Amino acid sequence: MIDINEIGATAFVIASIRALEPEKPRPLFNDPYAPWFSNDRARTAARQLEAVFPPSTTMVRFRTRFFNRFVERGIVDGARQVVLLGGGFDMRAHFYRGTGATFYEVDQKAVLEFKRHILSDNGIEQPPSLFANYLEEDVPGGLVDLGFDPAAPTLVVWEGNTMYLPPASIMPFLNRLGDAMPSLRIAFDYFSVDLQRREFDNEEDRRRLEGVERAMNASFPTGFPDLTVFEKQAPFEVAESGTFAELAEEYGLGEMVAEYPEDWRETLKLYRYCVLERRAGA
Ligand SMILES: C[S@@+](CC[C@H](N)C(=O)[O-])C[C@H]1O[C@@H](n2cnc3c(N)ncnc32)[C@H](O)[C@@H]1O
Repeated sequence: MIDINEIGATAFVIASIRALEPEKPRPLFNDPYAPWFSNDRARTAARQLEAVFPPSTTMVRFRTRFFNRFVERGIVDGARQVVLLGGGFDMRAHFYRGTGATFYEVDQKAVLEFKRHILSDNGIEQPPSLFANYLEEDVPGGLVDLGFDPAAPTLVVWEGNTMYLPPASIMPFLNRLGDAMPSLRIAFDYFSVDLQRREFDNEEDRRRLEGVERAMNASFPTGFPDLTVFEKQAPFEVAESGTFAELAEEYGLGEMVAEYPEDWRETLKLYRYCVLERRAGA
């Protein structure tokens, strides 16, 4: 029996959603390894997500595609290292091998040991991995011990994480990363609501988001109503931001999203992406 806590278990739910991609009329990515990390419990959670708010699993598909593009463009633009922070069962280290970038993974020990076990059964080597609660440990130092060069251009993929984190630890953590890595781009998804105060514009939004929490069996204490916090309280600039739903056109699913009921489209405005860039000389 593996001992994976509630937050770690969310990685199985996301893998279960990705495992369904080949059945979609218009697949947005190819992740043939996702079924390895799926199980009955996680599939039930994924179905529950669709039941509480049908577009939620579609947004996970959009986000996978978005982060793929972040990595692909970043490498073309010169990134030499990619850190999958809270990477769960992300297989990008394997997909993008041979691109000239070195991948590192950071996650809880139980999650990464489970992953390593599955990969080694299938003859795939786990990339250099830091087992850590990244909010509490010295991530730059731990990565350096694995061969990471803090001065080299680096991408951090922080996918499906921010909402689960205790708000007070986020800025100190980002400052530690930014101080140690002068050439850093970090991409993440987030909810644009103050989730501590739970100040929703309407009750439908609250009902849906709290339904998503229940389906994921984890709570969402953190959202960012205002991205300038990353500029005021940490050494970053907001390089990109937007809603996932707005990417539908680019992904060939514009019609599908345009046909959603208006109140669904309103709720979807709360789920967004952001790319931060380390401010030069900050
Ligand atoms: C929803 S999953 C997302 C996994 C992956 N990024 C993806 O999108 O498929 C969240 C992951 O973040 C990890 N995580 C969350 N908070 C963490 C922390 N403080 N330290 C280490 N790992 C963390 C969990 O263990 C889990 O694997």
